[in-house]
Amino acid sequence: MRDADVSAALLSWYDIHARDLPWRVGPRARAAGARPDPYAVWLSEVMLQQTTVAAVRDYFRRFTTRWPDVAALAAAEDGAVMGEWAGLGYYARARNLLKCARAVVADHGGRFPTTRDALQALPGIGPYTAAAIAAIAFDRPETVVDGNVERVMARLFAVETPLPTAKPALTALAARLTPQERPGCHAQAVMDLGATICTPKNPACGICPLRAPCAARDRGIAATLPRKLAK
Ligand code: ADE
Repeated sequence: MRDADVSAALLSWYDIHARDLPWRVGPRARAAGARPDPYAVWLSEVMLQQTTVAAVRDYFRRFTTRWPDVAALAAAEDGAVMGEWAGLGYYARARNLLKCARAVVADHGGRFPTTRDALQALPGIGPYTAAAIAAIAFDRPETVVDGNVERVMARLFAVETPLPTAKPALTALAARLTPQERPGCHAQAVMDLGATICTPKNPACGICPLRAPCAARDRGIAATLPRKLAK
């Protein structure tokens, strides 16, 4: 299967099975012209940096109810933001969140920059989060690589080199699959596939949209990948 066909299969799957997440504009709304809110995408990605989707949902709702846009958050008291963050952990994220909101207001007129490089120059936004915001909020063909994506790539291409050695190769494979059309949906589709089907244990290969091109499934080794260097 060509790379473009793999991405097309994934997008077709995502059009039906995308997870319904409070910060997400689903594929149907997206096709109808709705645009994701960069503020919501940024806030969710920062919250998701070291935290699960399940834990983030309620925090995300409380934050966006109390501070519906970046200007509101930038004007918040530090203590109020730290208080709402309590329980999410990794508190440097909350301090950087406020710094970032204030920088967007002070330096960018209250609008998030749209390129990966400009996003990465903001407090608390590293290479992963910059790529995620650029792809999801601004439909830039950036490649978003987290643990889910590494696992999907390791299996799809049967990469037996262990992590972390395999990281650059897995990133290159993910980049190869990133389409010019709908890169934001593609990025979220790979993450959803990794979270719901191509799971670490007992992957649901039987219902996977990529079962035909998956090299690890072909060899019966999907559940053993990605390999990890013994600690
Ligand atoms: N994990 C991190 N970012 C995500 C996103 N945008 N969708 C689903 N899972 C994620």
